[in-house]
Amino acid sequence: MISQNSIQQILSRIDIVEIVGSFVKLKKRGANYLGLCPFHNEKTPSFTVSPSKEIYKCFGCGRSGNSISFLMEAEKYSYVEALRWLAAKYNVEIEESETSPEYKQQQQVADSLYIINNFAQKFFTDALFNSEEGQDIALSYLKERGFREEVIRKFQLGYNPEARDGFTKAALASQYSLEYLQKTGLVNVRDGNSYDNYRGRIIFPIHNQSGKVLGFGARIIKKNDKAPKYINSPENEIYVKSKILYGSYFARQAIDKADECLLVEGYTDVVSLHQAGIENVVASGGTSLTPDQLRLIKKYTNNLTIIYDGDSAGIKAALRGLDLALEESLNVRLVLIPDNEDPDSYVNKVGASAFIDFVNANKKDFILFQLDIALKDIGNDSNKKSIVVNQVAETISKINKAEDFTKQQDYIKRCAEMLKIEESGLHALVNKFIREKVNKEESRVNREQRFEQENINNETISEADQETLALFNRDEVHEQAMIRSLLEFGLKQWNDEMKVAEYIFKEIEENHLEELIDNRELVRVYNTYKAWYEAGIEPTAKNFLYHDDLKMSSLVVGIMDFSYEISSNWKEHFEGHIPTREELFAEEVFSTLNYLKLRKIKRLMDENQRDLERSTAAEDQMVLVQTHQHLKQMEIELTKQLGTVIFR
Ligand code: GTP
Ligand code: MN
Repeated sequence: MISQNSIQQILSRIDIVEIVGSFVKLKKRGANYLGLCPFHNEKTPSFTVSPSKEIYKCFGCGRSGNSISFLMEAEKYSYVEALRWLAAKYNVEIEESETSPEYKQQQQVADSLYIINNFAQKFFTDALFNSEEGQDIALSYLKERGFREEVIRKFQLGYNPEARDGFTKAALASQYSLEYLQKTGLVNVRDGNSYDNYRGRIIFPIHNQSGKVLGFGARIIKKNDKAPKYINSPENEIYVKSKILYGSYFARQAIDKADECLLVEGYTDVVSLHQAGIENVVASGGTSLTPDQLRLIKKYTNNLTIIYDGDSAGIKAALRGLDLALEESLNVRLVLIPDNEDPDSYVNKVGASAFIDFVNANKKDFILFQLDIALKDIGNDSNKKSIVVNQVAETISKINKAEDFTKQQDYIKRCAEMLKIEESGLHALVNKFIREKVNKEESRVNREQRFEQENINNETISEADQETLALFNRDEVHEQAMIRSLLEFGLKQWNDEMKVAEYIFKEIEENHLEELIDNRELVRVYNTYKAWYEAGIEPTAKNFLYHDDLKMSSLVVGIMDFSYEISSNWKEHFEGHIPTREELFAEEVFSTLNYLKLRKIKRLMDENQRDLERSTAAEDQMVLVQTHQHLKQMEIELTKQLGTVIFR
């Protein structure tokens, strides 16, 4: 772990203009810098960098963040990798903080395993190219299958000779410990004798993102019914199957460029496609995709195309877990290779360009594909049909992000057509699943949020609801304004007794935080701010910008709006003094707080009103009417204070 001290040093030297400037050509424009957005294609620049706020924001695609998130986005670094990059750039020596003994131990084991794998890879490559057995048996086999030397070298393929313990002996002679050799799966021990595990097999090294060898896949050469075709490394400190995609190291740039990731089953599929010039390809090893693998893909692209052979048992496995891809907003398409071929044999048969044409012509949307298969199975069985309808609705309900709204609508339409059912019926069913999920997951989520969720997914919102929805959206702005006031003015003096932050804490606490702020992320920012403040840490916007919780930091970036700076150029055109937000901060704090309080009262009144409509006992009604009058009085006072009637 990088010590807090080093992180502070790095952060203190960050110059966002310099960092972003090393990737994007920037021009000074007023207080900010402007350039062409690196995250989307544009001809007129709308990518803005604010040196004073240390953030960037693209007004075209909406991406925003700080120096670290920029590196993470542009270079696909992890948080820690970005920090290390910055440390190197600014010559900050990284000091590793005290780590737990277990962690250290694990790191040491991992390091040893990497070293052994590196040794083994070289040994196997040497055996493939430079030994007689390797050339005669393995290299000739690979060449016969059509692999050229260039691609064999690129993927560092190798050969483990037939001899019982050739590799084991070499490794032990090089002082590698038998214990670790066993951990890598390269060496087995039986009855006190150690021997090579992958004897007589072609070796496919499996690389991590930065090209280090995590483990191996070892393919048998001679057909043998008793032995498995492939043996893979056992799970250990570095080989964690669920996090590995074979070929990702060689594919990352091509995936980025094509904005598409092809997924195949096997090692040989990856290597063959590469050889044919199709490089944006990775392999899953024939098992269903795990959340970690999906996340790995999502780092590079939102478009996943699965290419499997038509009768592969792997299809089912691949389709399993893909609902998860939908939740992650991945667009999943599927291509089946015909005639008992797999991608490797097919590309060898038809050539690269025909292969690409075939894939492009036969890409099927994954949801529609699944439905297509299910439909064939239904026949006239109405029971089966209702099951399928429910399955489809549930799958579609997983597409549930606001940004995917049109995609969801589109699926509902197309699936309803295929199923020959009413679109509105399917729609209602999808909403039912969404509601169920929301209810299940989030009993904590307050009423308002759920209401919003339901409405977002409901095409036919009544006029009254639409009005309410618009209000909620406007509310969001006020909630953000509240947090922005806190971040910007919190440390200013409110009066003789307290700072702005303390005043806000007091007001919010008195009115109950959850009843004032709906957005849970904003609540988190508030709570973090308060915790820092009370612990004596300066809760400046900057500290939030570099918070390792990216959700939080990007939220804060979003709140720290640029518009004020951009419009500051205007000032030059005006005579006399225009008060700045800085000068008016007290009013801003006061009015945003009042707005939220007003909203709370309004909601309480609505609730009261509903109770009133439902109540039958005269006594209850009396109390409710009194409550109403009391709330009304509070509303009038708050509104008076605000000076304007904002609320309807
Ligand atoms: P070739 O037959 O040489 O073209 O290899 P392939 O990759 O086409 O093999 P296949 O389509 O049979 O299997 C796809 C993938 O599943 C392989 O690349 C392996 O990752 C995995 N696999 C296949 N057979 C086995 C096995 O016997 N054991 C294990 N653990 N994995 C296997
Ligand atoms: Mn194959």
